Amino acid sequence: MSRFVLGVTGASGVVYATRTAMYLQRFGHEVTLIVTHPGKQVLEYEGQSALYGYSKDVCNVDDFFAECASGSADYAGMAVVPCSMGTLGRIAGGTSDNLLVRAADVCLKERRPLVIVPREMPYNLIHIENMKRVALAGAVVIPASPQFYSKPATMEELVDTVVAKILKHLGVDATQVATVAHAWGGV
Ligand SMILES: Cc1cc2nc3c(=O)[nH]c(=O)nc-3n(C[C@H](O)[C@H](O)[C@H](O)COP(=O)(O)O)c2cc1C
Repeated sequence: MSRFVLGVTGASGVVYATRTAMYLQRFGHEVTLIVTHPGKQVLEYEGQSALYGYSKDVCNVDDFFAECASGSADYAGMAVVPCSMGTLGRIAGGTSDNLLVRAADVCLKERRPLVIVPREMPYNLIHIENMKRVALAGAVVIPASPQFYSKPATMEELVDTVVAKILKHLGVDATQVATVAHAWGGV
């Protein structure tokens, strides 16, 4: 069993977070959830309250006393799903001005997996530069770009083509990830 931080921002696509948390829980891992204030509004708007049920702990985004604010806590990694351009910029700038951004900063400094799933279109140069910056600092940038060549029959199957990549780069066991990717032929 490993513990993972899942950060959810006010970008569209909260279903990616819901299904990431669902699989982590199914595979016996624990999810510590942090949702930004805009993230809460978009989560509700997109009808993704099931996400809370897949999370062991839900941290207040303003609570810097939460365990995941410290490098001493034994988290295996973190995913920011979906990641708004605002939060991407804050992570790239090292601002650590809320718990989500601080937890991401901790992952980078402790050399733990940090998966960032940006969601915006089109990107401006600031977005692209910020992606470059976090990638150089050690994050893995996985755009919310599902693939269609496996002919996914449902939205969930389509979403899972991205979710499998997130789980893989968090370091989840390959045989477990394979069960997510099974329907579409590999990660
Ligand atoms: C319905 C809705 C969808 C949004 N989708 C996106 C998006 O896909 N990407 C993005 O960068 N911002 C998006 N935004 C704007 C962000 O919520 C806004 O920039 C916010 O300040 C992000 O704050 P956070 O990074 O603290 O969550 C959306 C806002 C709303 C209301």
